[in-house]
Amino acid sequence: MDGNGRGARSHGLKRIEGHKAAEKAIHDSVEYCGSMGVEYLTLYAFSTENWKRPKAEVIFIMTLLKSFIKRNIDNLDRNRVRIKATGRLDDLPQGPLNELLSAMKRTGSNEGLNLILALSYGGRAEITDAMRKIAGKIEAGRMQISDITEESISSSMYLPDVPDPDIIIRTSGEQRLSNFLLWESAYSELYFSDVLWPDFRRKHLEEAFEDYRKRRRRFGDLDSDR
Ligand code: IPE
Ligand code: MG
Repeated sequence: MDGNGRGARSHGLKRIEGHKAAEKAIHDSVEYCGSMGVEYLTLYAFSTENWKRPKAEVIFIMTLLKSFIKRNIDNLDRNRVRIKATGRLDDLPQGPLNELLSAMKRTGSNEGLNLILALSYGGRAEITDAMRKIAGKIEAGRMQISDITEESISSSMYLPDVPDPDIIIRTSGEQRLSNFLLWESAYSELYFSDVLWPDFRRKHLEEAFEDYRKRRRRFGDLDSDR
């Protein structure tokens, strides 16, 4: 979800106004993905690197996270959305963390769209944490070096039951992953939109899905009509 700050600045507003304006784009995306039968939607809301930003902006985003959940939890729950989170959640301040945990608990048995919030998330941090988990098991004698496989690494990630993403969409014209789902994105289709996140609407998501439908995913193999 990139381009909040630039969106606000282009209207002569403070960067934080852009974060506020992001909510509409989130609504549209959750609603459209739900209606299309998408099973998992991960929103990259805050990275491990975003902590480097000025303190006031970080505090604003964390406060917004808490109020976002408070404002939307009834509606999300009514729509059977199941809220999950990925990242170094221990880094989050107590208030937003508690709000998040209670939303996850409340929606835990819903069977609609899985809405995953990536918070204090970094792909390298996730891989590092997975390595530590595995090393800890080896040290404790509960795992052998020969047990280290792509599968066992995958199951040591933050959300082992969530499938790898089919498509990763980045807004605002930047063409990079910025530490998002590095392990899981090995064969994800990448889609870049010039639209800033606060302006991202259902029609832009429709365009992304339309583009995705035209892609041929071979996963290193040949086409079946070879
Ligand atoms: C994305 O918008 C939101 C977060 C990273 C929290 P930015 O804040 O990165 O907006 P730009 O890239 O400065 O426009
Ligand atoms: Mg940015």
